[in-house]
Amino acid sequence: MERNPRAAIVLAAGKGTRMKSALSKVLHEANGRPLAWYPIRQALEMGCDPVVVVVGHQGGEVRDRLESLFPGAPLRFVVQEQQLGTGHAVRCAQEALRDADGRVLILYGDVPLLTAPTLTRLVDAGQGRTLAFLSMTPDDPTGYGRVIRDGDGRVRAIVEQKDASPDERAVRECNAGLYDVDAAFLWRELANVNDQNAQGEIYLTDLVAAAHRAGEAAVAVPAPVAEVSGVNDKAELAMAAKELRRRLALAHMRAGVGMIDPDTVYLDEDVTIEADVLLEPNVRIGKGSHIGAGAVIGQGSVIVGSRVGAGVVVKPYSVFEDAVVGDRAIVGPFARLRPGTDLGPEVHIGNFVETKKTKMGRGSKANHLTYLGDAVIGERCNVGAGTITCNYDGVNKLVTELGDGVFIGSDTQLVAPVRVGDGAYVGAGTTVTEDVPAGALAISRPQQVTKEGWVDRRRAAKKKG
Ligand code: UD1
Ligand code: MG
Repeated sequence: MERNPRAAIVLAAGKGTRMKSALSKVLHEANGRPLAWYPIRQALEMGCDPVVVVVGHQGGEVRDRLESLFPGAPLRFVVQEQQLGTGHAVRCAQEALRDADGRVLILYGDVPLLTAPTLTRLVDAGQGRTLAFLSMTPDDPTGYGRVIRDGDGRVRAIVEQKDASPDERAVRECNAGLYDVDAAFLWRELANVNDQNAQGEIYLTDLVAAAHRAGEAAVAVPAPVAEVSGVNDKAELAMAAKELRRRLALAHMRAGVGMIDPDTVYLDEDVTIEADVLLEPNVRIGKGSHIGAGAVIGQGSVIVGSRVGAGVVVKPYSVFEDAVVGDRAIVGPFARLRPGTDLGPEVHIGNFVETKKTKMGRGSKANHLTYLGDAVIGERCNVGAGTITCNYDGVNKLVTELGDGVFIGSDTQLVAPVRVGDGAYVGAGTTVTEDVPAGALAISRPQQVTKEGWVDRRRAAKKKG
């Protein structure tokens, strides 16, 4: 069935006092995305255009963050200076919706768990009607608006907790607060809503009574409580984030990503993971990272802002930040790849190796206890245990260059700026302060002195004395 053109309003002006936070409630994050991102994504996926977000507390920050997450999307922001009620918040969006004349979907910025099937049921129920809304039947209805029905079982009104009679409070069917409404009806009736109620607020819920008076009762569409529950404090945020994480992990597993213990895998919404990747327990992957087909991400590893190639093996407890790792590389355990690391295919990085702003060509290795910073390393190099690039002179960061096929002996310091040419060797324990030409050997350690029988002579001397 062809649907009417549809706009959306996302209410996100509330302060969220119970979060006890300096940060606006809807900016608190789950899976690397602020809470309000979830309903906005749903509205956009339903084809809503425009999506008007009503902001209040920290409106500027909320707007900046959300705009950056939906580049090019038909998002508009309006400010509700004072939180005078849900009806007032919707009124604030009216000007931004002047050219929308079909349906209006109204969502809450702090209800992130709503699923597409539930939203579709709401929208389908609204077809050809003035108003449909999601209802729920929580174990404890305290605080919610009650759904009050007439003698024919049609929805007569929604009565808020504070305005409800004892009989009305006994009703367990509640308003979840999400609506699909005809735009003309919405603006016509909202203009008549006043604040003559226990809270002195302009209630959006008064539209439900208006629909009944007009002879076309609103339809209540039952929704699972867990999906329509809002996030009000940090405990509810953690629970909601856990559920969102579970859904995201499930979607990745269905797409062919293996997880030994999905409950302990922490993925951001924007990561991409190819099929046949295996994620071991306690892995975190975030900030737009990409993991190529068949890679194994070892237990306890943290990968943010990074690209990991196909078939890469990341051994446990490695940490990558803004790094690129080429196909079939082997990294870790306990490796740290810092921003600007760019490893070619088949590179090996071993335990307790730290890299920063360092490029390594195909097949090069640094397997033990090494710091490589501001380095450009060619292909097939072998960097021995304990090698250090001395890249900082106290003022500037300086570059170390290794050609192809270079051999760096263990415990070498490369004092930048310095270059070691193709195929050159550096002996163990060397402090390289001058360029080494291709094919040369550089060695700077003092000649070894060996004194035969020295230990016995020393002992004998001690006894005498
Ligand atoms: C509202 C409903 C109630 C329903 C409940 C479900 C009304 C009058 N009542 O309750 O029937 O059971 O939701 O959660 O609508 N907001 C604004 N500006 C405002 C007021 C609210 O943007 O001036 C936003 C809040 O940020 C929040 C949403 O609207 O995202 C709901 O506000 P909240 O105060 O939590 O709901 P109630 O009004 O108590
Ligand atoms: Mg309220």
